[in-house]
Amino acid sequence: MTATFQLQRLSSEEKIWRTGQLVGRTPLHEITRVFQKPGVRILAKLEWQQIGGSVKSRPAFNIIKQAIRLGSLGKGQELLDATSGNTGIAYASIGAALGIPVTLCLPENASSERKSILEALGVNIVYTSRFDGTDGAQLKAKELFREYPDRFFYADQYANKHNWQAHIETTAPEIWQQTCGKVTHFVAGLGTTGTFTGTGRGLKNFNNSIELVALQPDNPMHGLEGWKHLETAIVPKIYDPALADRLFEIDSWESYDMIRRIAREEGLLVSPSAAANLIGAIRVAEEIEHGVIVTTFADNADKYSEVMKQIFN
Ligand SMILES: Cc1ncc(COP(=O)(O)O)c(C=O)c1O
Repeated sequence: MTATFQLQRLSSEEKIWRTGQLVGRTPLHEITRVFQKPGVRILAKLEWQQIGGSVKSRPAFNIIKQAIRLGSLGKGQELLDATSGNTGIAYASIGAALGIPVTLCLPENASSERKSILEALGVNIVYTSRFDGTDGAQLKAKELFREYPDRFFYADQYANKHNWQAHIETTAPEIWQQTCGKVTHFVAGLGTTGTFTGTGRGLKNFNNSIELVALQPDNPMHGLEGWKHLETAIVPKIYDPALADRLFEIDSWESYDMIRRIAREEGLLVSPSAAANLIGAIRVAEEIEHGVIVTTFADNADKYSEVMKQIFN
């Protein structure tokens, strides 16, 4: 009897359980060389260490799992969404594992690595104009869903509560346990805002005095893939403006310099948004005398070869 034969006989819940084993449970890495200050610790969740290679596996898995359970993603239906990449790769990996076809609207200037990965995972890609960014991709997905409501389950990560709830259920308890309840600050950049919103709410449930610091790029033409400049972008429906205790703005070039430092001093090759999160965490660390600051490294440098060439050549 082959493994393939056995897997085909798994029930939907068994397949969900099996795939769920590959989601979350990421290590919490202490930053020890880029920043040092007695009494203050900075820790980063290495979120690329799960299926799909990024933090977005958590919401993608929860969105698919809940849709199957609620009956909104039935047999023969395709998952549809708009994504600049990481959520798409997560949908594609999890969709492949669960036997669900995936259609994604993607700005044509998404990195070539991301396009190749999505194609390799069997995604049907609908390209949208580079000038309209992720907002244009979102509008296209909505249009497709209006046209073919029976064909698609529209995951809509920007408005789907199962996005941020994934973080309340997994990221926040992991951080709480990994810091033995000592976390004092959580710092994260805003994309769909799911990571910040869900982890923030989850941590506040554990201890209401934990401070939540949100980050955004300092201008609309930024290089922090995955993040949104809220003043000029479509604000995600799941965003809760009352949640953040503070909101800092981060410069993309400063983040690129930080990528180099994290590589040379910590031995980790990370993405621009991960480096930007560390800049935010350091800003908090410089202001306090005691504390445990936690942030997320959403993904590593694998999908950013153009940016890495600029930084390292
Ligand atoms: C690289 C990267 N960093 C950060 C984020 C932001 O995460 P969230 O959408 O949970 O706000 C994303 C989202 O796609 C991302 O791809």
